Amino acid sequence: MSAMQAVILVGGEGTRLRPLTSRQPKPVITLVDRPFLVYMLEWLRGHGVTDVILSCGFEPTKVREALGDGAALGISLRYVVEPEPRGTAGALKFADEQVGLAERFLMLNGDVLTDVDIGAQLAQHEATGAVGTLGLVPVDDPSAYGLVLCDERHQVTGFLEKPAPSQLVGVDRYYISAGIYVLEHRVLDMIESGANVSIERTIWPALVGQGLHGSRAEGAYWMDIGTPERYLQGTFDILEGNVRTGVAERLGDGFLAVADDVEAIGRIVPPAVVGSGVKIAAGAHVGSLVVLGPGVSIGEGARVERSVVLDDVTVGAGAVLTDCIVAPGVSIAEGAVVRGGAVIGEGVRIGAGNVLAAGIKVFPDTELPPGAIKF
Ligand code: GDD
Ligand code: MG
Repeated sequence: MSAMQAVILVGGEGTRLRPLTSRQPKPVITLVDRPFLVYMLEWLRGHGVTDVILSCGFEPTKVREALGDGAALGISLRYVVEPEPRGTAGALKFADEQVGLAERFLMLNGDVLTDVDIGAQLAQHEATGAVGTLGLVPVDDPSAYGLVLCDERHQVTGFLEKPAPSQLVGVDRYYISAGIYVLEHRVLDMIESGANVSIERTIWPALVGQGLHGSRAEGAYWMDIGTPERYLQGTFDILEGNVRTGVAERLGDGFLAVADDVEAIGRIVPPAVVGSGVKIAAGAHVGSLVVLGPGVSIGEGARVERSVVLDDVTVGAGAVLTDCIVAPGVSIAEGAVVRGGAVIGEGVRIGAGNVLAAGIKVFPDTELPPGAIKF
């Protein structure tokens, strides 16, 4: 059997994750301890997919720097760069024109953290002779996704991208498209060359009743990490071991990974990942559900809980961080409070006594004088 091929779409701008994606494209922002896309590549390799094409909407310099040719991950990684973003179907067409896709291949949205069993989806695809098989996961609220309706033989009877409340009447369980597709090459014949075409709004609806099937992945983990709330939730789920990842191996039974050279006088409560060179001063409390990137320094009596604090951040004495994301190089002065889903961009300097909450987003390199913002 030849290796399965996958095309991963990574051309979106990741605007909903700003300011995390202001300097770093979504595919390579750090999730716990590695670039996001590494989770997808490790998952694919685990299912025997080793020929991967990254479909990029603009020059992916930073993605290339982080992932190279994939050799370190045991896969072959190729890059296809559209002259301008072509939409999800246009991007696929362009990739085929550039590299010639296989007779049967996987197509994946590049922002999902999952351990769905691709083998089961492929087996169903082969058994039914479908032209395309959409991986489906159950959700409570389908409004941000593509809602897929199927009959009892798993044939798709309706595809509604970002459904309005009125379109949900009479649907009792919501299955959405997980952004994991098995496709036959002939689907490409339906996509106009050189045009901007959405696969969700044009191709799936056209294939309803024409050999499009759905494959329900019950019990698997699945999360689109494309918003700060879901990025944090994905982090917590990795730390708790709710999703099978390489991080779980690092964490082990104690749900704790602390680099050898960490200097911690204060307390660390698992689950937590603490990177190389981190310093935690006396009386500080780190955890649970915390990631401290390499080079982070936590001051005396500071408290960090349910948060991601990336590389080289300094947290002053007595500062309190809860439910927040702090990008690399930020400095947080003593007594500042960051909580409530706040996202702090690279290089921001937060003066003493600021209180940042309620989902506030602070863009890179902003300087907040002492006490400037208090909620
Ligand atoms: N190459 C390329 N070119 N990639 C693109 C383009 C483009 O023009 N536009 C979007 N992408 C990539 C994004 O980077 C992302 O990985 C993927 O296509 C999906 O785009 P999103 O912007 O994340 O879409 P969404 O999350 O709102 O909805 C999609 O994903 C849901 C599951 O997470 C849809 O496919 C839904 O049907 C689905 O339920
Ligand atoms: Mg998405």
